[in-house]
Amino acid sequence: MRRDDFSRRLMRETTVTPNDLIWPVFVLEGQNQREAVASMPGVERLSIDLLVEAAREAYQLGIPVIALFPVTPLEVKSLDAREAFNPDGLAQRAVRALKAAVPDMGVMTDVALDPFTTHGQDGLIDASGYVMNDETVDVLVRQAVSHAEAGADIVAPSDMMDGRIGAVRAALEAAGHIHTRIMAYSAKYASSYYGPFRDAVGSAGNLGAGNKYTYQMDPANSNEAIHEVALDLAEGADMVMVKPGMPYLDIVRRIKDQFGAPTFVYHVSGEYAMLKAASMNGWLNERAVVLEAMVSMKRAGADGILTYYAKDVARWLAE
Ligand code: PBG
Repeated sequence: MRRDDFSRRLMRETTVTPNDLIWPVFVLEGQNQREAVASMPGVERLSIDLLVEAAREAYQLGIPVIALFPVTPLEVKSLDAREAFNPDGLAQRAVRALKAAVPDMGVMTDVALDPFTTHGQDGLIDASGYVMNDETVDVLVRQAVSHAEAGADIVAPSDMMDGRIGAVRAALEAAGHIHTRIMAYSAKYASSYYGPFRDAVGSAGNLGAGNKYTYQMDPANSNEAIHEVALDLAEGADMVMVKPGMPYLDIVRRIKDQFGAPTFVYHVSGEYAMLKAASMNGWLNERAVVLEAMVSMKRAGADGILTYYAKDVARWLAE
């Protein structure tokens, strides 16, 4: 069966299409602004006007959804993260611009406080620096509703607080946002692969030597992921996510087998940086390893993949 192309194609079990892709993008203040991310060559932060053009291009390449990550200016960061639910915040303005210009493209927003806190944690902290669950959930709820009000199609809580999916779902319903989908970052690990992302959104300096071990999951755990997904689905998540991607494909498979729910995986910034760096050195064939990474994540059971490579993948698939 492996001898010829026709029989290899005939028994191929997994395919990747642009429909499987969600493109994460970093959004900047200003007009006609574009900044390279040093630890992620090929990735740029874009001001809203340029974001709209880039999104239109991605949609034309067949990518159904874009995910927004605002780069918050230092002046608006605070201890109470109030900028997170500013109706005229950067994320909210970006959503409105995208829905006006490319209405058929799905727009997903990140619900977490790390771009807005002076300490770079995903939630509000007490005097000892501990992230307080319920106080944080109250702010996340306001943030999620403000995103839905701006027109977000999918809100994606990435904070790992307990009970936030149920609280966000109830608040969306109460505000009449009955169609807003929730993608829960259910099994989000306290991973060292997020480093380049924290550079990109500018939260690395704020976080300093801090870590997120009191709320993100221990990379050593697998049963805990099942437990987290069960809770999020029971609380009203439409989709669940595992993050990071390639080092966690055993988790993706377990979750898909156990729940059969729409399951997504985040090919995170550090994974992008690894493949990009090796490719730039001529050590790996970029196109081949990236497409192999995509197939591997789908084979593990993912229905879709968030990846900074989304546009490249869509272009390669069209060739
Ligand atoms: C913020 C958030 C992070 C990522 C997505 N949303 C960083 C973190 O939790 O520190 C990481 C994405 C990536 O590394 O590509 N809550």
